[in-house]
Amino acid sequence: MDFKYSAEDVCKIEADLLVVGIFKGEKFTGSAKSVDDALGGVLKGLTDDEKFGGDPGKSVVVSSTFGKIGAKRVLLLGLGEKSRFSTDTVRKAGDVTARKLRAASSDVAFGPEFIGGKGYIAALAQGLMLGAYGFDKYKSNNGNGSEIENVVMVSDGIKSRRFEEEISEARTISESTRLVRDMVNEPPVYMTPSKIADIASAVADETGMKCEIFDLEEIKRRGMEGLLAVSKGSSEPPRFIHLTYEPEKKHKTTLAVVGKGITFDSGGLCLKPADSMRTMKMDMAGGAAVVGIMKAVARLKPSVKVHGLISTCENMTGPSAYKPDDVIWAYNGKTIEVINTDAEGRIVLSDALSYAVNLKVDEIIDLATLTGACMVALGTHTAGLMGNNQKLIDRSKRAADRAGEKVWQLPMDDELRSEIKSDVADMKNAGSRWGGAITAAMFLENFVGETSWAHLDIAGPAFNEKESDWSPRGGTGFGVRTLVSYIMDR
Ligand code: BES
Ligand code: MN
Ligand code: ZN
Repeated sequence: MDFKYSAEDVCKIEADLLVVGIFKGEKFTGSAKSVDDALGGVLKGLTDDEKFGGDPGKSVVVSSTFGKIGAKRVLLLGLGEKSRFSTDTVRKAGDVTARKLRAASSDVAFGPEFIGGKGYIAALAQGLMLGAYGFDKYKSNNGNGSEIENVVMVSDGIKSRRFEEEISEARTISESTRLVRDMVNEPPVYMTPSKIADIASAVADETGMKCEIFDLEEIKRRGMEGLLAVSKGSSEPPRFIHLTYEPEKKHKTTLAVVGKGITFDSGGLCLKPADSMRTMKMDMAGGAAVVGIMKAVARLKPSVKVHGLISTCENMTGPSAYKPDDVIWAYNGKTIEVINTDAEGRIVLSDALSYAVNLKVDEIIDLATLTGACMVALGTHTAGLMGNNQKLIDRSKRAADRAGEKVWQLPMDDELRSEIKSDVADMKNAGSRWGGAITAAMFLENFVGETSWAHLDIAGPAFNEKESDWSPRGGTGFGVRTLVSYIMDR
């Protein structure tokens, strides 16, 4: 997708499609008004007929302009309430346009109402690139839909330098997000732990990052017993991945971003029922997000040092599978009684979190499709946010707000801690159903020591079974935008 800008009159701009926006409950003004005038009131007529009120995501199409303006067609897009207009509205406008237009128009122009404030150019470009995403690698008749090729942003206020900067940032974030979506959408037979390691190492080569990969022997040698235990039921060997981004300039802060990379979660011996097992290829979405975040960070070059850590394996039922009643001696010396082999994510994360503590980082943020309970609590679009440091939690929340990703803090109520007390070991890996997202976080807290730590339970928003308004079917790449925004602001 190529991006240009132009100060020409919207009515003169040549394109397959011109997109103009209109606010909810407002009269036609600006480009909508001039286009409507040039078309002799057709736009106004259509919005009246279709009872189009300017709701966000809603649209009206004029399928021919009969040469009265430069563009062949017009898409009138609702922008919602004027008072709530933000970069998020613009990103969604881009996303909706690209999604609606798949296989239709290749040259698209946008009116000046989309490109007002700081960050709007980036938001529009990001929305368009992400909205154009599709995963059809395994369809025999793929590749015959065209994509938007050229985008022109029409406004007389655009400065070349800012335009280039915003487009380049949008491209970086979109490409990383698309990589994460691809990784999550690939079937589990392909996206194995060693494949994730290969991708991480290719990303490191291409961006000049350091990448260490521990294979089965090395994981054993280092005593990463959690990852080892969970991987034992599978014939696929586990991997532990450590990416490092080192800034050229002096840095004050070092962060670790940690991801859960279960490439398939059958539940292990505590086997999931068939219906719940479907979609469990997405249980590596946290790990994939870490690869995407590191790729973006290496290109955006913030002055913070960032470690990307991924524990990845399959959770299967083979003859050596770990069992309920087993006790695991974790990397930091604590012991875990296995109650349920389906609570495997927290076990593989225990090694990665302790490893991050040993790196003496200032902050740890982990991303994990950790609990169904989090989806029960918050629904499928919002991630649960927990941790041991309210300032870090607040900063993460603000980063998510800026990025247009939904997160919500859940309380770490002390009363719930007894849920994971064990009679035979230091802790159990599962409590009762109640507060399951919170007790999972409490389990993780045992492995972060005194380090500031925030945890994002992305079980809901990482994957869509159905396409939703502003989000594709399958992997969403959730977390990339929030964490990149967090790191760039740190
Ligand atoms: N990967 C699942 C959580 C999950 C469920 C993610 C649905 C996305 C959609 C996790 O490993 C799991 O199985 N959690 C159990 C924990 C329980 C056994 C304590 C759960 O949520 O039921
Ligand atoms: Mn599980
Ligand atoms: Zn899992």
